[in-house]
Amino acid sequence: MSLLSSLILVLSKLNFSLLALAMTLLALGAPHRAFGSSRGAFSAISTVPQTDGLCALSVTVQGYKCQEFEVRTKDGYILSVQRIPEGRGGGNGAGGAKQPVLLQHGVLVDGMCWVVNSPDESLAFVLADNGFDVWIANARGTRFSSKHSSLDPTRPEYWNWSWDELAAYDLPATVDFVYGQTGQKMHYVGHSMGTLVALASFSQNKVLDKLRSAALLSPVAYLSHMTTLFGILAAKAFVGEITTLAGIAEFNPKGRDVAEFLKVLCSDPGVDCYDLVTEITGKNCCLNASTVGFFLKNEPQPTATKNMVHLAQTVRDGVLSKYDYGTPHFNMAHYGQARPPVYNLTAIPNDFPIFLSYGGQDSLADPRDVGTLLDNLKLHDLDKLTVQFVKDFAHADFIMGITAKDIVYNAMVAFFKRQ
Ligand SMILES: *[C@@H]1O[C@H](CO)[C@@H](O)[C@H](O)[C@H]1NC(C)=O
Ligand SMILES: *[C@@H]1O[C@H](CO)[C@@H](O)[C@H](O)[C@H]1NC(C)=O
Ligand SMILES: *[C@@H]1O[C@H](CO)[C@@H](O)[C@H](O)[C@H]1NC(C)=O
Repeated sequence: MSLLSSLILVLSKLNFSLLALAMTLLALGAPHRAFGSSRGAFSAISTVPQTDGLCALSVTVQGYKCQEFEVRTKDGYILSVQRIPEGRGGGNGAGGAKQPVLLQHGVLVDGMCWVVNSPDESLAFVLADNGFDVWIANARGTRFSSKHSSLDPTRPEYWNWSWDELAAYDLPATVDFVYGQTGQKMHYVGHSMGTLVALASFSQNKVLDKLRSAALLSPVAYLSHMTTLFGILAAKAFVGEITTLAGIAEFNPKGRDVAEFLKVLCSDPGVDCYDLVTEITGKNCCLNASTVGFFLKNEPQPTATKNMVHLAQTVRDGVLSKYDYGTPHFNMAHYGQARPPVYNLTAIPNDFPIFLSYGGQDSLADPRDVGTLLDNLKLHDLDKLTVQFVKDFAHADFIMGITAKDIVYNAMVAFFKRQ
């Protein structure tokens, strides 16, 4: 693995962990709820050609049926969504309508992260083979979700968003779409930033009426204990951008600016950029080297610099709040208050079923930060909260680990079937 790809991987993991921590939740409301709910804001667009996209790249080649859809968010982003309607044996659901499951990836990756391993190892396939109707989300800005009704991704205006918008627009639009297509409430699975986005959304009671339960893998709502020096330096570097309104741009990990950025970070004597993945995500126990190689060829995916800044703020501040515009004056202009509004996680309904799995080696979703999250959920109904601690797992093991099925996914499937 070249230094640069290691760096990129590390960065993506970092994002994964740190950013993902902050971003995964995506939930959240638009800054100004007064403009109304995002319900009904999406519109389905005709299915895209079945020859490009994630289905053709990674799903049908494994022998599964797969359909491509496009979903439009209230703020005009056009997202690609894939559906794996059944398992390899065809309809092995127990008669009747299958329960949908929506998978939401973390930062700097896309929906491909759920299908990189073999069918017996990858979550999307494991769920399909267990009789679920699987839907894969792709966040705005990633390669299959780079369209907009009026903005062009080559222009800065396209990149004017953070995980606040993922929670306020992307998640509700995708959930509404799946609900509209299936007529069924769904289970949700988020990894990293995918947990952040969901928690933010849930705390505002968005989308919950269409969900049966949620599984949160490597949850990153709080990031204050992120321990890796690389993560801390990166977070500091991003926070430095807050005060510039010019910080609205694409953050493309494959681009030159990001390579420069990494070079500077890696010149710190305390940072080991030859093993960035470990440096960023912790010591993953169970990755398949050839899977990681394939993954690196396809990822990482771009995101908005504003999103990275917002994730860095989450690391710095230790609270889950909306994007901080940097000065009381700018925050006042956006939110009508000097500090950005906080996402109140204790407001998540106590009877909403949650499965949470976290790892002992994860430097992004540090066990102490997960402890803070669990503290927010301490009044949750005991029979609605299942918590799993996997001592040997780090951040990427939850989606790419070859033992994830035995350790995590089987328990998740059993949890879904109980709801
Ligand atoms: C970015 O979006 C905010 C609202 O969320 C808006 O106030 C601001 O003018 C936008 N900036 C640019 C450069 O589009
Ligand atoms: C690792 O990935 C390769 C290529 O996809 C595959 O042939 C091999 O069986 C995998 N190993 C394990 C232990 O899953
Ligand atoms: C958070 O939500 C809980 C439960 O709804 C409520 O009791 C508490 O006052 C809220 N906290 C803040 C700071 O709004």
